[in-house]
Amino acid sequence: MRLKDKVAIVTGAGSGIGAAAAVLFAKEGAKVSVLDINLKGAEEVVNQIKKSGGQALAFKVDVSKEDQVDKMVADTVKEFGTIDILVNNAGINEFVPFPVLQVEDVKKVMNVNFMGAFLCVKGVLPIMTEKMSGKIINVTSIMSMIGGKGQSAYNASKGALKMLTQGMAVDLASYNINVNAVGPGMTRTGLTKNLFANEDRVKWFEAKIPLGRLGVPEDMAPAILFLASGESSYITGETIFVDGGMLATR
Ligand SMILES: NC(=O)c1ccc[n+]([C@@H]2O[C@H](COP(=O)([O-])OP(=O)(O)OC[C@H]3O[C@@H](n4cnc5c(N)ncnc54)[C@H](O)[C@@H]3O)[C@@H](O)[C@H]2O)c1
Repeated sequence: MRLKDKVAIVTGAGSGIGAAAAVLFAKEGAKVSVLDINLKGAEEVVNQIKKSGGQALAFKVDVSKEDQVDKMVADTVKEFGTIDILVNNAGINEFVPFPVLQVEDVKKVMNVNFMGAFLCVKGVLPIMTEKMSGKIINVTSIMSMIGGKGQSAYNASKGALKMLTQGMAVDLASYNINVNAVGPGMTRTGLTKNLFANEDRVKWFEAKIPLGRLGVPEDMAPAILFLASGESSYITGETIFVDGGMLATR
């Protein structure tokens, strides 16, 4: 029960890495607001948590919409009393080669992956600063460190989120708020379903991963939990890459 009586918000928790984190948090004693643009996914995760005896609420929220984020924060406080942990996990990715990349493509990715995280932090900050305590975990990517084909907008959004993590860590340290990131490697989720539908491509990636396999959401969730727990109280501004060693080869 490493998160006993804590209240957590996990964004993009209707599937993949966010869902795994929400389920693990609840198992460790947290009350969880499960937020996603996909309400059905969020409700399924909440049902799973409740079946195991946990407490959770499902919200249909677009993280890039300030009014929706603020209402979700207010409803979480009304229901659970406070907010201790925010996991900014919601993210999108589209493969668009730079020569055909349009302004709208970049805005779309930045609005969710970067501004969405910013808006969620702004939403919970008054609560965390008042209680002089909080844990913020941003889910970035190995793509915050390396370029990828057709990935320039995604690269920029995750690079920006990594540096937002460091900047916020400095400014929020005096409020006893830890801000860290988890950077997943190649992970089997809805986001990468098409990419990994091709077995040859999977083999190509596996050959580049020292641990020899793709990741799964359950590989990422324990790192997020560690950064949300009291065990990481002297860590801030840091990114833990959970990538099977992929970045170590570069
Ligand atoms: N899968 C990978 O290989 C990988 C690698 C590195 C980083 N990541 C990051 O991990 C995070 C989780 O992705 P995943 O792989 O679990 O994919 P996923 O598609 O399973 O989960 C992402 C969730 O975010 C939700 N979402 C999308 N836009 C939203 C919005 N505007 N508001 C609220 N929710 C929204 C989706 O509905 C979905 O449930 C993302 O930030 C992604 O960039 C994934």
